[in-house]
Amino acid sequence: MSFVVTIDGPAAAGKSTTARAIARRLGWRYLDTGAFYRALGLKALRRAVPLTDAEAAAFARETTIEFSGDPDGPRLVLDGEDVTDAIRTPAASDAASRVAALPAVRRQLVEWQRALRAREPLVGEGRDLGTVVFPDAEVKLYLDADLDTRAGRRLRELRLQGTESEFDAVRDEIRVRDERDRSRADSPLRAATDATVLDTTGMDLERQVEAALAVIRSHRAFPGPVPAPGPSAAPGSIAEPGGQRGRGRA
Ligand code: DC
Repeated sequence: MSFVVTIDGPAAAGKSTTARAIARRLGWRYLDTGAFYRALGLKALRRAVPLTDAEAAAFARETTIEFSGDPDGPRLVLDGEDVTDAIRTPAASDAASRVAALPAVRRQLVEWQRALRAREPLVGEGRDLGTVVFPDAEVKLYLDADLDTRAGRRLRELRLQGTESEFDAVRDEIRVRDERDRSRADSPLRAATDATVLDTTGMDLERQVEAALAVIRSHRAFPGPVPAPGPSAAPGSIAEPGGQRGRGRA
């Protein structure tokens, strides 16, 4: 089994930027599990009626999700449609957190996420990676930061995407979503008992990545960077450093 690093934590704690930076630096595979919940959330949002628990199993089974884990530009294809940008809106965030509370949805997505573990080292991020998806991960990190810091980071991200929002509205959206993610019965957001908790309040991105890398490098089985495949790479090797294709289908 490959070396796995899990990064869990509340919304906008810097999990994605840290995980992607690590995957890029080490040439490892990158897995954004939140993107899977966002994709199903978006699909549920597009229905006229809310998704019930009873319908959730068939709903998830009938869905196809392709995740390409290139840390420089991960893409998500839902039922053949590229929804990489559409899953990043505040409405899709809220919908993701709602479908994520449905046990049948979690069962299906966890199965697909586990199947993406390959021979290459992997850095994955989400809410339950250290506790449920990869409980045997070599390194488990839990990233946290105070609510105002996280709201400020999310506001900047949304502005970069061209979405204008108010600080208070973003802060509220994150607070409500975290409460829902922490209080659900199935796989609630929490740090694994063997996770290293990093409080990134007041840290810039570079320090955050260095702090995470220091924990990863200190593991006795740290495999080091994976060299980028050259032009004579054997068939079946990864085409781009950290690149990954995962597919979930019934
Ligand atoms: O990491 P994110 O903000 O993209 O995640 C969106 C939502 O998906 C989050 O509010 C809760 C859910 N989620 C989850 O329940 N488990 C995961 N492993 C990842 C995300």
